[in-house]
Amino acid sequence: MKKAIYPGSFDPVTLGHLDIIKRSAALVDHLIVGVLNNSTKTPLFSDERVNMLKEVTKDIPNVEILSFSGLLVDFAREHNVQAIIRGLRAVTDFEYELAMSQTNRVAAPDIDTIFLNTSLKYAYLSSSIVKEMAMYGGDISKFVPESIVDIVRERYSSSYNIKANENGDIK
Ligand code: PNS
Repeated sequence: MKKAIYPGSFDPVTLGHLDIIKRSAALVDHLIVGVLNNSTKTPLFSDERVNMLKEVTKDIPNVEILSFSGLLVDFAREHNVQAIIRGLRAVTDFEYELAMSQTNRVAAPDIDTIFLNTSLKYAYLSSSIVKEMAMYGGDISKFVPESIVDIVRERYSSSYNIKANENGDIK
């Protein structure tokens, strides 16, 4: 059975992530989407990230959503995974991704990293861009799966309003 893991922060999941998930799921028997729960990085969306991913992948039968903490290679070994999948958007991603894949390869030579190029229409997209757009009330429906648009928007409209209120922008 071919098993791979697609790890990330997914804070929140974007259409670019979903594109990689669908294409990876078509290449393997079982795909684990690993949501990093790392104490050094506080995500905007905490446990909701797993639920949002479950919602947007509910129609892909060979995809499982799990959270992990610690080293990716340990998590991959625990689940008998043979490959790690990462998306590459542009050359700017490459240096970091190469270093990460080489580190993982030194730590776990039996697990390979496979890079999928991001579909051109999502090449500019990142979770940070989604957050920036949502923070200022922009239309995020072209950036995240339809079923989570409201969750992301609501999270931001409440925090934006609190901030604006604190700053006296809302009278
Ligand atoms: O979506 P992201 O934030 O670019 O994903 C980064 C991720 C989660 C793949 C990476 O930070 C990771 O694997 N973290 C777990 C810790 C680890 O194994 N680090 C060693 C590789 S340098």
